[in-house]
Amino acid sequence: MAGQIPQRFIDDLLARVDVVEVVGERVQLKKAGRNYSGLCPFHQEKTPSFTVSADKQFYHCFGCGAHGNALRFLMEYDKLRFPEAVEQLASRLGLEVPREGADDPRAQARERKRQEGVNLLELASSFYRERLRMPEGQSAREYLARRGLSEEVQRDFGIGYAPNDWEALKRHLSAREIVEAVQVEYGLLVQREDSGRTYDRFRDRVMFPIRDVRGRTIAFGGRVLGDAKPKYLNSPETPVFHKGRELYGLFEARQANPRLERVIIVEGYMDVVALAQYGIRYAVATLGTSTSEEHLSRLFRMVNEVVFCFDGDKAGRQAASRALETVLPQMIDGREARFLFLPEGEDPDTLVRREGREAFEDRITCASPLSEFLFDQAARGRDLARVEERERFASQVLKAASRLPRGMLQTVLLGELARRTGVDQSRFEALLARDEGVAPSLAEPNVAPAASSTGQEVVGHVPPAKGASLGLVARVLQLLVHEPALVERLPGEDDWCPEGDGDAALCRELVRLLRAGRYRSPQVVLAHFQGSAQGERLALLARREMLIPRDARAQELDGLIEHFRRHQRRPSCQEQIDALLAKQRSGERLSPEERQRLMTLLAELGS
Ligand code: GTP
Ligand code: MN
Repeated sequence: MAGQIPQRFIDDLLARVDVVEVVGERVQLKKAGRNYSGLCPFHQEKTPSFTVSADKQFYHCFGCGAHGNALRFLMEYDKLRFPEAVEQLASRLGLEVPREGADDPRAQARERKRQEGVNLLELASSFYRERLRMPEGQSAREYLARRGLSEEVQRDFGIGYAPNDWEALKRHLSAREIVEAVQVEYGLLVQREDSGRTYDRFRDRVMFPIRDVRGRTIAFGGRVLGDAKPKYLNSPETPVFHKGRELYGLFEARQANPRLERVIIVEGYMDVVALAQYGIRYAVATLGTSTSEEHLSRLFRMVNEVVFCFDGDKAGRQAASRALETVLPQMIDGREARFLFLPEGEDPDTLVRREGREAFEDRITCASPLSEFLFDQAARGRDLARVEERERFASQVLKAASRLPRGMLQTVLLGELARRTGVDQSRFEALLARDEGVAPSLAEPNVAPAASSTGQEVVGHVPPAKGASLGLVARVLQLLVHEPALVERLPGEDDWCPEGDGDAALCRELVRLLRAGRYRSPQVVLAHFQGSAQGERLALLARREMLIPRDARAQELDGLIEHFRRHQRRPSCQEQIDALLAKQRSGERLSPEERQRLMTLLAELGS
């Protein structure tokens, strides 16, 4: 029997695929503002009401309510079961789906195939590392020493040296029976167009292996030891390497701290490595490209805070403007983006060496929040005492605000804009609403609860599940999903949660996660569970209308806990059976443990 797919793998998978790509292969999509739209594949329609959001990684149909992430789409569209959908997505990325305790021969065969490519790059990586230690690596060792890189950090980042030889790696790999065509395919050899001859791509360079989130080497960057050009040489695009997607140092950052909260994006390999050496182990670098939407959506699925780091010169400010444009649509509540400008002529590498860790971290701490950077940028070179200039200032800020998802940040920004311009906030809100027009927007997909003007929760276009009233634990879950901060009201021990309830396990899991403190908004909570049965349960609860006004919810939660405490007794056999059956009827699959429990209970009842 195939084992369970580890949740971590599913998380990584969802962080790496793009729902727009997956859907776009099956449905014709057109870019519409921040989202994509097309004809819904799940119901008959003549005008498009189906949207796909790249930054939220959801699709949503405003006509029929179909909704979900890339995995869900494959399940629905290709009629796949969950594990098959995972397989399908993983194979797109050339990944093998790990199974906890599995030994399926087919999977093994595929794994071997996949391993070929990975092994090749891994072999190359260890070759480069060994060469650095050998006599021929002396000049590189000296170079690294001159740049002040410790042995420890060289080891952590797997830094190596490509010898000054046209065929050193080729000989090494060919002796291990790796055909040249494959070495070319993975970018290690260059093939001349005219003669077809092949030779090592990287020669006499310090080698930085680029690893994917799971730590597998997928490409290399190589730096010359002197002033020759090009200074850096990267692997070309290969079946496993897409430069616009990868971030150098992300794997190493997660290694150093699996509970990463914050990431700083710098420009160069050397910056990442130097910061790590000084104990700032959460820096990543793009691979010579500007930061893309894809980079950010991946990062934001792992951390809530991203700090962009730029040179203080004009080029740096331009890069920062581009980064701002890219990050705006991704700023859902709970996320934070900040902008750090370094003194001219410095990069993080030089600065951290000169100032040390604390001073550099102080800079990070004081980096401008997005709103501040936005206002500074809009005010730049303008005399705000003049009406016309103030108008332009306001339009610029308003334009940026219109690209933000609806939420706290947008509201606060408009409030601040009102304060600075003396114009009433409601005027700005009206302007925004006008510009948004009537086109369907994914600003609030139906899993994301939004406060309506009546003070109730409206959630998307799917009617709330009718009929069966919610169990008590489900009500706790619902409260927590809608307002994660309520977790602080719960008692320290989880023994209040009644064992027999079908939602108990999920409730404990959710409480544990919220306590860990990383999940501060409903969207992020739901994103965490996406693709699992638990995720569907939570999404269902999130969609249900929440009739309790915001200011009464804490009290409601206290009441529920109090109730559990008072009725703390083992639920009767019949109650436990009822709970499990109800769960099954709601369309959810029971876990193997729960099925076993149900069988036992039924047997007990019958005896
Ligand atoms: P050092 O000069 O070693 O300190 O490198 P750096 O990391 O400070 O490099 P720099 O700021 O000049 O460039 C930042 C990043 O741009 C590098 O890490 C590379 O990813 C990329 N880059 C720089 N020069 C080149 C080049 O000549 N070719 C390519 N492909 N990329 C480059
Ligand atoms: Mn540098």
